[in-house]
Amino acid sequence: MALYIGIMSGTSLDGLDICLVDITQDIRLIDSQFLGFPASLRQELLELCQPCSNELVRLSVAEQEWARLAACGIQLILQRQTLSPSDIIAIGSHGQTIRHQPELGFSVQIGAPALLAELTGITVTSHFRQRDLAAGGQGAPLVPAFHQWLFANNLQASAILNIGGFSNVSFLLPGQPVSGFDSGPGNVLLDAWIQKNKNLPYDKNGDWARSGQINQSLLQLLLQQPYFAIGGPKSTGRELFNLGWLEQHLTQLDVISAEDVQATLAELTAVSISSSILEQQLLLQTLAVCGGGAHNSYLLERLAQLLPGITVTITDSLGVPADWMEAMAFAWLAHCCLAGVPANRPEVTGARGLRVLGAVYPV
Ligand SMILES: Nc1ncnc2c1ncn2[C@@H]1O[C@H](COP(=O)(O)OP(=O)(O)O)[C@@H](O)[C@H]1O
Ligand SMILES: [Mg+2]
Repeated sequence: MALYIGIMSGTSLDGLDICLVDITQDIRLIDSQFLGFPASLRQELLELCQPCSNELVRLSVAEQEWARLAACGIQLILQRQTLSPSDIIAIGSHGQTIRHQPELGFSVQIGAPALLAELTGITVTSHFRQRDLAAGGQGAPLVPAFHQWLFANNLQASAILNIGGFSNVSFLLPGQPVSGFDSGPGNVLLDAWIQKNKNLPYDKNGDWARSGQINQSLLQLLLQQPYFAIGGPKSTGRELFNLGWLEQHLTQLDVISAEDVQATLAELTAVSISSSILEQQLLLQTLAVCGGGAHNSYLLERLAQLLPGITVTITDSLGVPADWMEAMAFAWLAHCCLAGVPANRPEVTGARGLRVLGAVYPV
């Protein structure tokens, strides 16, 4: 057995996805643990996603709390599995993105990897995006290489779609290098709007969006954002798509009911994803969805309607639980980092070439 732990802490800021996997010829999910962020940490991380006062001190404190939470989650898994830290080869920790500005050559993930190594007694690998950025890439998305490795024997032309805070898609065509990009927002605007209007963290199953009517004027206005028109390599984040961006557009139109806005935001996610897939003009058979958005049945229905001829399913049907795909990817990235295997894909990120990703904090 070759045991690794993966930690994903995505842009939705819902919490930590932690998984334990065995990576030999393939990858096997052994255990997993989700830990929601305490409200105060979530609020602090959210504020740190945009310029704010005293941010260096605040992020340096917040990342220690983040690492303590991650260490607790790892402890729970080790106890359940009666494993000791020395049984684990390494942790792959994505960290929490607080800025992603590839146009300025940087992307910032916090998560105090040295503290995490100290608290867990396990080697930590992290900062996976930086080397790709240094080589002129977007530093994102990084999961397509994992999707390619995972489904190397899949003979169907398929796309893997992760709908987290943002959405990224990987195209897997037999015999061809993987391609992919961030298509744009996933849940980030849906979450922000329902939080503001109903004080709920997310729109369960997309029920609130389903109850509204899509407002075409708002949809067309939002779709004018130039990001949607550019081709890959491209990646995005909260800098571009956030509540303020939505509200700026709302002021340009007559008042729209809150549920109609939600329906329109779901449509923005579905249309931006489906258009970016259709533009590729690939004969895809399957679109397999992972990430929290895989639970949004309304979004999945809209995707299926917008992508006739393509079977829309969740990655569970391919043997990988939708909720754990990303955390598993970072466990695999830890393995690649230590093995010296390049894990970026220049076709995806635009980097000058293949690079070994990650920094190592030895135990
Ligand atoms: N039952 C559900 N119905 C609709 N949306 C859901 C459901 N469960 C999770 N989500 C969405 O998934 C998001 C979390 O997805 P996740 O893959 O963890 O994203 P990230 O990687 O950005 O953290 C939540 O914020 C929410 O929007
Ligand atoms: Mg998450």
